[in-house]
Amino acid sequence: MNRKYRKTLIAGNWKMNKTPSETKAFMTELKAMLPKGRWCDIALCVPSVCIPAAVRALRDTRVGVGAENVNANASGAYTGEVSTSMLVDAGCKYVIIGHSERRAMGETDADVNAKTLAALEAGLVPIVCCGESLEQRESGITEEWISMQIKLALANIGEDKIRKVVIAYEPIWAIGTGKTATPEQAEEVCQHIRGVVRKLFGSKNARAMTIVYGGSMNDKNAFELLAQPDIDGGLIGGASLVAEKFVKIIEDANQPTA
Ligand code: PGA
Repeated sequence: MNRKYRKTLIAGNWKMNKTPSETKAFMTELKAMLPKGRWCDIALCVPSVCIPAAVRALRDTRVGVGAENVNANASGAYTGEVSTSMLVDAGCKYVIIGHSERRAMGETDADVNAKTLAALEAGLVPIVCCGESLEQRESGITEEWISMQIKLALANIGEDKIRKVVIAYEPIWAIGTGKTATPEQAEEVCQHIRGVVRKLFGSKNARAMTIVYGGSMNDKNAFELLAQPDIDGGLIGGASLVAEKFVKIIEDANQPTA
């Protein structure tokens, strides 16, 4: 983390877990446990049907609610999809874009770019995911792969909007596997991402961009990951489903840094 130049964000990604009633119960529990005083930014990205319950329960807190996906089109014949204006009207502040689980279902880099542009246009904070497979890491092409994903995801974003984007580095081999990247591995790629952003948008924008790590981050390993200079937070799956674990990660993100 480097709080002098950029925001720290701890974001949960619930994936396809919890019903609206369970959401309400979880948020009530979370609210009672949240640390008082100065915090990092906090987001909970939840299934679409849980958004109203989450927004209602978190109304009087600084926790932002997010969606896990969005459609880039404004409206129309897209059965089953949800638009940016629907998310904004429902009270969302954030949206996860290009998660590897969605890419595995067919989402392309062009889709990720279109969704990112649409989210920014609507005033949402896009949490844009990138990450390599184990095969790609073992073949030594992690940096090239990530550079390509970032360049394509951020194409045509204006200088005025780039600082709103959050990048999440999520190595696919670390997601839901319990195999966290070491702090050094995660830092190396987050630093590389900042370098790519520097080339595209200049050093001030790169320095101000929040880049988070995701992939089996939990209450036990968050502190060390967050101590790295280019890791500005976390995108947390499994551990965000348990209030005590999620709060512990928030507390770790609020620790003083050197
Ligand atoms: P995990 O998921 O923390 O359960 O590994 C992270 C993510 O997929 O965003």
